[in-house]
Amino acid sequence: MYSSKITGMGHYVPDNIVTNDDLSKIMDTSDEWIQERTGIKERRWIKEGSDDSTGTMGAKAARIAIERAGLTKDDIDFIIFATLSPDYFFPGNGVLIQDMLDMPTVGALDVRNQCSGFVYSLSVADQFIKTGMYKNVLVIGSEYHSGALDKTTRGRGLAVLFGDGAGAAVLSRSEDISKGILSTHLHSQGEHAEVLTVKAPSISHWVPAIIEGGAEDTSYHPFMDGQKVFKHAIVRFSEAITEGLEANKLTADDIDMFIPHQANLRITQFVQRRFNLSDDQVYSNIQKYGNTTAASIPIAMSEAWEEGKFKDGDLIVIAAFGSGFTWGSVVIRW
Ligand code: ACO
Repeated sequence: MYSSKITGMGHYVPDNIVTNDDLSKIMDTSDEWIQERTGIKERRWIKEGSDDSTGTMGAKAARIAIERAGLTKDDIDFIIFATLSPDYFFPGNGVLIQDMLDMPTVGALDVRNQCSGFVYSLSVADQFIKTGMYKNVLVIGSEYHSGALDKTTRGRGLAVLFGDGAGAAVLSRSEDISKGILSTHLHSQGEHAEVLTVKAPSISHWVPAIIEGGAEDTSYHPFMDGQKVFKHAIVRFSEAITEGLEANKLTADDIDMFIPHQANLRITQFVQRRFNLSDDQVYSNIQKYGNTTAASIPIAMSEAWEEGKFKDGDLIVIAAFGSGFTWGSVVIRW
């Protein structure tokens, strides 16, 4: 019997800070509106002309995570890359990073589960390690949102929410089954696929059709019914956490640190109240980075780790909800 432990974490965000006031110069919005509804103060957006991309940011985060795990790239047996903003339509970012990091011909898998991408990826990595198939799995979440956002007043409902960045973790085999990932729970509900989506380009709505549609065609920008997302998110976050705790015969009183997908501070605060957690038990960095989707949990975990917030034996609960809808939780004994 094996357990999988997180042995290294790393993150990378572009240098370019975009404040709410910066946004109010290019669209009809305000710092007050954004902070009140989302908690976001600023985000990082890749600057035009920069070399950063979903792949290169992921590679930078991965190098840090591998080094902190005390490993080299040649020790990694498998790559899992979560993103909704891949560099290519295909192949996926997993193979691109395998090349960027000059890794041996290990397998590489892309996970397309948006805000839940990192939770799904941890679950996949955990299964590969627990079955004995792999010893060290590299899991990356990276997003280059700013390239696809509609940065005009028309797109303000979404443009103010999202930021760019990457986070990575190395999961390694351990024989101490009392620690590491205790459980993962995953869910989806495709009937809500249209509530939060980017529909094109797709095989059925290809680039020429978009060009023909001109400025009226917004199918290549993200669309979201924000209120519907909010209502479902608070329910599903809570369900996934409860499911994870109950599966391990634990309660909310046992949680030392809750690391949610950084969707919106109001969603996090709702969940915090629901489980009666103190501010010290909840990690939030959405104020600085906005919503970085698949990257949000690994960036938050990497920062929390750097700040010494995880102590030996701590119970860490991770949960995410997002487009699909997809959602899930991971319970970790550190
Ligand atoms: N600045 C100023 N005004 C804006 C902006 C903006 N950036 N965006 C929208 N508005 C306007 C709207 O046009 C509307 O104006 P109107 O009343 O004249 O029509 C008004 O503000 C209210 O718009 P709503 O969309 O109803 O605003 P709401 O209060 O619902 O807040 C928000 C929007 C923040 C997205 C909210 O619905 C929410 O928190 N949803 C949760 C979804 C979420 O967090 N998604 C993150 C990504 S998904 C995920 O990670 C799970």
